[in-house]
Amino acid sequence: MKTASTQASPEKFAADVLAVPCWEGDDPVGAAAAALDKAMGGALSTAARSERFRGKAGESVVVHGAGRIAAGRVLLVGLGRKSRAEGPALRRAAVRAARAAQGKGARTLGFVVAKPDLARQAAEGLGLGAYRFDRYLTGDRRPTSSLEEATVIVQKAAGVAKAVEAGAAVAVLVNRARDLVNAPPNDLHPTAFAKEASALAREHKLEIRILDKKGVEKAGMKLLLAVNQGSVEEPRFIHMRYVPRGVKNPPRVVLVGKGITFDSGGLCLKTAKSMIDMKCDMSGAAVSVLAISAAAVLKVPVAVDAVVALTENMPSGNAYRPGDVFGSLDGKSVEIINTDAEGRLVLADALAYARSLQPDLIIDHATLTGACVVALGSYTAGVFSNSESDVRQYLRAADEAGEDVWRMPIVEELRDGLRSDVADIKNVGESYGGAINAALFLREFVGDSRWIHVDIAGPAFAERPFSQYPKGATGFGILALVSFLSNWRPDRARRSK
Ligand code: BES
Ligand code: MN
Ligand code: ZN
Repeated sequence: MKTASTQASPEKFAADVLAVPCWEGDDPVGAAAAALDKAMGGALSTAARSERFRGKAGESVVVHGAGRIAAGRVLLVGLGRKSRAEGPALRRAAVRAARAAQGKGARTLGFVVAKPDLARQAAEGLGLGAYRFDRYLTGDRRPTSSLEEATVIVQKAAGVAKAVEAGAAVAVLVNRARDLVNAPPNDLHPTAFAKEASALAREHKLEIRILDKKGVEKAGMKLLLAVNQGSVEEPRFIHMRYVPRGVKNPPRVVLVGKGITFDSGGLCLKTAKSMIDMKCDMSGAAVSVLAISAAAVLKVPVAVDAVVALTENMPSGNAYRPGDVFGSLDGKSVEIINTDAEGRLVLADALAYARSLQPDLIIDHATLTGACVVALGSYTAGVFSNSESDVRQYLRAADEAGEDVWRMPIVEELRDGLRSDVADIKNVGESYGGAINAALFLREFVGDSRWIHVDIAGPAFAERPFSQYPKGATGFGILALVSFLSNWRPDRARRSK
């Protein structure tokens, strides 16, 4: 889909659908729609009144143009109360507008934005809302039309065209992460993921290093190999790098991603029901490689590395067992208690690798624990960190991005539960506080690096559309990272050289 911007007046803009976002309580359809309403002989305000459209978030009304305006139909979309953050509300409204327009078979869409400084969020929303995963549909299940062009209608101001371009580009990358996660696990195994990462590296001029099984063995990533034992698919370990041009001594972040392309649980096999969506278990890896791509497109002034560990978790005669003990890249020995706690194992090796790069900050994303979903529900990610100044900035960035995250504590009292009689540590702790136990396990491998851990087990993959996300893969976490990397001010006093 093409995304453009124009300064045209809404009543003269020719499109299949013209979307007008309205704040709750604005009378009757808001200042933005007043001229349009007049051109339509009051049809807009009449329809809004009779449909009891109040501008609440999620509300919408369609009114036919009847030849009085250039557009075929007008779509009023509610933004909710103005007291709420404007950017995220507008982004969500743009998502709904694009989704509704495409659902009605529209090929062209205009989206009216009252403030030029919200053009970026509008463009992001339009691109995100047009997302569909139809690659595997055939015959009459294939959609016959799709949204071809979305235009942000906004007063001209400095930087509007650039903002729309940036928003559209970010949406494309989030949608590519969604494609990776939605792809079926028989097609998206570790080797296929690595191929996609190579393509991204080529497109965005990133350095990339891919370790195959031999490379992983040579490197000493014993925990990644342990999880991989039961699978006929080879593991992959990927390291990508973006270096900003013309920035002297930029701050450095390493993004780390859990890349389990399918999590059966291994010998501690999951139930049929809890296994269904486990193709989503590489969402953290997808977030990491698409976020570094976005960093390159937006030319953020931060040096970014992305490190992802990829394997399936499968049962077989070769599979790793409860009771097994393995070494790790870090050197620590780990006793396996539950083969379904595999994410923290592959992350342990990835975090040890990340630490060796000596960054200012490590941020990992992982669909790590069902316990995090129990704690926060399916729409909120859990955030754990050992660095107050960094996590404060991350939480603000997530807010601006409209991504719902919640700080979780790292409770020292639970650390004892990870003690093993035969190894340095075991991979499962006490039965309660599972999300915290997993964070405590990861912490053993980050050393004294500053670190943020984002448990996206809930919001990575959705049973129904919510907020700005579609059903299925959401790409949750990328927008927050983009906002974070664009604004991050590391605590320089603590920076290593
Ligand atoms: N991939 C799962 C976590 C998960 C659950 C992701 C639901 C998305 C939705 C993870 O590997 C896992 O199985 N965790 C176990 C850990 C337990 C064995 C300590 C869990 O949460 O049950
Ligand atoms: Mn598991
Ligand atoms: Zn898993």
